[in-house]
Amino acid sequence: MKINIAGAATTKFGELWRRSPRDLIKEAANNALDQAKMKPFAVEAVFVGNMLSSSLGNQDHLGAFFAEELGMPVAAMKIEGACASGGLAVHSAVMAIQSGLYETVLVLGVEKMTDHKPEEVAQMLMGAGTDAEREAGATFPGLYAIMARCHMQKYGTTEEDMAQVAVKNHYHASLNSHAQFVFPVTLEKVMKSPKVADPLKLLDCSPITDGAAAVILTKIKNNEVNIIASAVATDTLGLSEREDLTGLKAVRVASQKAYQMAGISPKEIDVAEVHDCFTIAEIMAMEDLGFFEKGKAARAITSGKTKLGGSGPIINTSGGLKACGHPVGATGVKQIVEIYNQLKGIAGRKQVEGAKIGLTHNVGGSGATAVVHILKKD
Ligand code: COA
Repeated sequence: MKINIAGAATTKFGELWRRSPRDLIKEAANNALDQAKMKPFAVEAVFVGNMLSSSLGNQDHLGAFFAEELGMPVAAMKIEGACASGGLAVHSAVMAIQSGLYETVLVLGVEKMTDHKPEEVAQMLMGAGTDAEREAGATFPGLYAIMARCHMQKYGTTEEDMAQVAVKNHYHASLNSHAQFVFPVTLEKVMKSPKVADPLKLLDCSPITDGAAAVILTKIKNNEVNIIASAVATDTLGLSEREDLTGLKAVRVASQKAYQMAGISPKEIDVAEVHDCFTIAEIMAMEDLGFFEKGKAARAITSGKTKLGGSGPIINTSGGLKACGHPVGATGVKQIVEIYNQLKGIAGRKQVEGAKIGLTHNVGGSGATAVVHILKKD
């Protein structure tokens, strides 16, 4: 497989109270089109990754809505898979191009979350969970806290280990002007931040964010960065049905499929954007994606291997969900934008020198959906 990325862009992520979803997608789409040197009429289909526009924004029908806003009267649809909506929209566009139906597709990811109270957002996000989890009053910080406790018990992972993920990702975000939190944090600050769901603290959590991202995928060769693998796997919606809570089976299955499709091993990945919705999620991702042995990722992160300048793979140069922000439907598309920039060599102060192969890892819910893409520079 070889799907060319012709252009890619994101808006600033953060609390964007003065901006509407239509305003955000216009900025991201127009910047991606400019970068691709394409006119809107070149786009044959629009796929939109979004989770909460209906429940929080009272707006459905995003495909036609954004196609009209962009002056693209073409096939258009919304793709939903909780926090993996953006990754699934990219996967759907890849399938549409691979099938031969369309040559050039615009993928948008967008979410507007900060106009609502955090407790309201937390409740709507739990639409991605099960009845039993909702009835028990669980929230996503609570569900990931359960996984953190299991990982701590089995592998001796500590709260400091998790805090190191936040320190690294905030450092990376401090080099990214589009990030929500452009400030570094110390280990002490993370450890002293208020508890959200024990053992996870405020600075172990991704925030509530507004933002949009856009990529243009095409069969026509425009430049040297291509998607060479796109894989999706699913698992039980609820945690209680799973055999093991120290990792995500869907991620292991999707990444194995993706490595096989790309004909590479995890060792060949130079740079990756992974779904660190909570710091424990990045530790589990490092193990599930095969970057480090089970139980060894926390030490590797603490020793600086995955930080800019480390031996690699370098993880979450954007700042990740933790510090760049997590506008849920946009995240999977933004991850592709960041890896595209890295492989093009246009990532600025956060550039990983000589990066040739990159990976994105986007997760929905507590791991019921996993989407893995592999990108390569020719
Ligand atoms: N990381 C760092 N700082 C954060 C933050 C985060 N995740 N969330 C909020 N802040 C900061 C705010 O900027 C604010 O700073 P200020 O006082 O200097 O302006 C302060 O902390 C308080 O912000 P507030 O919005 O009142 O936080 P909150 O307590 O209402 O919400 C969380 C914090 C962690 C509960 C909320 O961000 C959350 O629910 N995150 C998880 C989202 C989620 O589940 N996503 C899906 C993942 S699967």
